Amino acid sequence: MGEHLKPPLAQIPPSVAAVADYEPLARERMSAPAWAWLQGGAADEITLRENRAAFERLRLAPRVLAELAGGHTRLTLLGQALDHPLLVAPMASHGLAHPDGELATVLAAAAMRTPVVVSTQAGTPLETLAQAAGDAAPPVPLWFQLYLQPDRGFTRALVQRAEAAGYRALVLTVDAPVSGARNTEQRAGFVPPPGLGAVNLQGARPLPPHTARPGQPPLFGSPLLDAAPTWRDIAWLREQTVLPIVLKGVLAPADAVRAADEGLAGVIVSNHGGRVLDTVPATLDALPAIAQAVQGRLPLLLDGGVRRGTDVFKALALGASAVLVGRPVLHGLAAAGAPGVAHVLHLLRTELEMAMALCGCRTLADIDASRLWRG
Ligand code: FNR
Repeated sequence: MGEHLKPPLAQIPPSVAAVADYEPLARERMSAPAWAWLQGGAADEITLRENRAAFERLRLAPRVLAELAGGHTRLTLLGQALDHPLLVAPMASHGLAHPDGELATVLAAAAMRTPVVVSTQAGTPLETLAQAAGDAAPPVPLWFQLYLQPDRGFTRALVQRAEAAGYRALVLTVDAPVSGARNTEQRAGFVPPPGLGAVNLQGARPLPPHTARPGQPPLFGSPLLDAAPTWRDIAWLREQTVLPIVLKGVLAPADAVRAADEGLAGVIVSNHGGRVLDTVPATLDALPAIAQAVQGRLPLLLDGGVRRGTDVFKALALGASAVLVGRPVLHGLAAAGAPGVAHVLHLLRTELEMAMALCGCRTLADIDASRLWRG
């Protein structure tokens, strides 16, 4: 057990009724700096709060006496049959939340039939996780989140490893070519504990670090921006892989349209959980204009602030096909290990089904803007 962690709970307390109840339990078990890393957002955390506020502002329009028999939450996404529209968002270093790290997350998610997007920066080899997910019956798809590396040869090898291990999609994160002003982490004195490094990047040429600390050179003109990916790299990446590529970190309709033009398989409307550029809008507020612009040419996913089944419902009502869940998964993991993660996913799914039933939706296809209250 690393000194940054207290042991997880042996049992989930019966008082845990909602995803948010895991938050204080996780906080008690993590060091203050690790908690700041997990929970914090960029700068003044305006976007972090706005992600939640956008969900809280919307009201649902319930419908009564609808036919609900035979209802379900199944969907097909990128040609993959899924039980429900929830995925685990890619997050670095699950080992900061639990000694079993990503392995516990993947096992729990597989038990809940939930795909996991494994981070490039995971602390567990991508092959180990693929093996664990593949052992589930029937297997649950894993997707691999890619940060393009300055060395194309290394990126190609990483993509080939993910393909060979059986990952079913690439999620290319494009909203963090430079890190944001991570003031919360900085103030808490967070430094990644040794031994929790990004094992899948071993041997990669490290990206030159850049923070807003005194004495740092300007960002423009630095090797970091010279190496930042562009649309040209998207065309290159498409040639390297047979896997569908999903672009993560889009807020502008024009970028989503370009993703469709470039032949990408999907877009994740995301602001990185409010962790990169502060004062950008909530993802839920960005979604309708993107849905309008892409006209169904590719599926839209959304993440940022999903904490309730009603949030999942609202995202789907505004045009998302599925949502990804970030921090709550690590809260469940830190608090109670794999059972905590499974419970978080179970709660969200159950609450989604409640919202569907009470809004008269038998299937996900029934969820549309008519189920949102326009007062
Ligand atoms: C992230 N996120 C992230 N995204 C990504 O593409 N690669 C990564 O390695 C990480 N790492 C990471 C670590 C931690 C601790 C957090 C909280 C987030 C962003 C993540 O995929 C997702 O966009 C947000 O977390 C979604 O918002 P919520 O659900 O956390 O509010």
